[in-house]
Amino acid sequence: MIIEPRTRGFICLTSHPVGCEQNVINQIEYIKSKGKIDGAKKVLVIGASTGFGLASRISSAFGSDAATIGVFFDKPGTEGRPGSPGFYNTAAFEKQAAAAGLYAKSINGDAFSNEVKEQVVNLIKEDLGQVDLVIYSLASPVRTHPVTGKRYKSVLKPIGADFSNKTVDFHTGKVSEVSIKPAEGEDVENTITVMGGEDWKMWMDALKEADVLAEGATTVAYSYIGPEVTKPVYRNGTIGAAKDHLEATAFTITDDLKSIGGKAYVSVNKALVTQASSAIPVIPLYISLLYKTMKEKGIHEGCIEQIQRLYSERLFGGDLALDEKGRIRVDDWEMREDVQAEVSKLWETATTENLSEIGDLEGYSNDFYNLFGFKVDGVDYTADVNEVVSVPSIK
Ligand code: NAI
Repeated sequence: MIIEPRTRGFICLTSHPVGCEQNVINQIEYIKSKGKIDGAKKVLVIGASTGFGLASRISSAFGSDAATIGVFFDKPGTEGRPGSPGFYNTAAFEKQAAAAGLYAKSINGDAFSNEVKEQVVNLIKEDLGQVDLVIYSLASPVRTHPVTGKRYKSVLKPIGADFSNKTVDFHTGKVSEVSIKPAEGEDVENTITVMGGEDWKMWMDALKEADVLAEGATTVAYSYIGPEVTKPVYRNGTIGAAKDHLEATAFTITDDLKSIGGKAYVSVNKALVTQASSAIPVIPLYISLLYKTMKEKGIHEGCIEQIQRLYSERLFGGDLALDEKGRIRVDDWEMREDVQAEVSKLWETATTENLSEIGDLEGYSNDFYNLFGFKVDGVDYTADVNEVVSVPSIK
C-alpha cells in the first residue's frame, strides 16, 4: 500500500516501514562512524523499539558487538493497516543485526507483566546464560500491576496549583496559553506506580533471582530534569514525582545487587522529540527553542548521539561524572548556562508570528514525522510498500 501520515494531535496513526528501516540504518551508520566501544557484550533492553531504548540497543549491538534481547509493546502491520513504528524499527534492526552476524531476539509484550519477565528470563537462560547490562527505557501512560491486576494511569499535571504558560501546536505553529489543573485524588501515586521505579526493581529482582545477571552487571534507567520554565508541569509535577522515585530506586537496586557487585544508575538525558515527549504540554515549545539554540551552537544531539556519548564517555569511558545526587548527566549540554539563558530569552518573546524564525519548528515537526518513518531522506513515499513486515525472532 501507499502509506501517508495521518495525524491526530500529537499522535500519528500510520507509520512507514521503509522510512523506519532507513532511520535504523542511519543510526547504525552513525554508531559505526564513531568507532568501537569496549562495552557490555550481552545486553537486555526493556523499551527497545523506539527513542532512547532503540538507540541503546543499536549502540550496544553496533558499537560493542553485543548480543541483544529487546522488549517492547508494539503492533505489527496487518493487510491494509500499518503497524506501529517500533515494530518496523525492530524488524529493520534484527535484519541488520543478522547481516552483521550479531545475536538479536525480541519479545513483544507487556513488560510490566510477570509473564514477559518470565519469558525474558527463559530466553536469557537458553541463549545467553547471563546478561551484563540491562537498559530500562520504558515510557508508558498505563500499567497493569502484576500483583493486584489493577490498571493505573499516569497523568502529566502540576502538583498543588494550576500551571499556565505558553505552548505550541507544532502542526500549525500556533503559540497559545495553556492552563493545566493540578493533580487530584490519587494522580501522584498512580503516576509513580506507572513511571516510577517499582517495575525496574521487579525486573532486576526477577533477573537476579533466576541467576541470569553476570558478576558486576550494570543497569541504567533514563530520567529528565529540564529547565525552570517546564518545572511545574515536569520535574515538580506528577511525572517528576515518578522520576524522583525512579532515581531513588537506583540506590535500592544497587544495594540488592551487592552480592554480585552490580550497580544501578540513572542517566539524565536531553529533551528530545519522541512519542512520549510530544504528549507533554509546554515541552514542544521549549524543545523547538532548544533545538534552534543548540543547533546554532553546534551541540545538538538526537537519541543516538546521546546514547553514543553516554556509552563511550560515561558508562564505558571510565568517567561516570556523577552529579551530587549520584546521577549520570548527558543533559549537560542542554543545561549549559549559555544555552539556558538563550532559551529563556527566546521564551519571553515567542509568538505565533516569530516562532518559525526564533525557534526550530521545522526541526521539531520533521523529527516528529521521522518517528513514524515519514519525511526521511531518500525514501520514495509514492512507492507501494508492504505494510506486513515480520520481526525474524517473533513467530
Ligand atoms: P519512547 O516512547 O520512544 O519509547 C518507549 C519504549 O517503551 C518503546 O519501545 C515502547 O514499545 C516501550 N513500551 C511502552 N510501554 C510498554 C510496555 N507496557 N511493555 C513493553 N514495552 C513498552 O520513549 P522515550 O522518550 O525514548 O523514553 C524512554 C525513557 O527516557 C523514559 O523513561 C523517558 O522518561 C526518558 N527520557 C525521555 C526524554 C525525552 O525527551 N524524550 C528525555 C530524558 C529522559
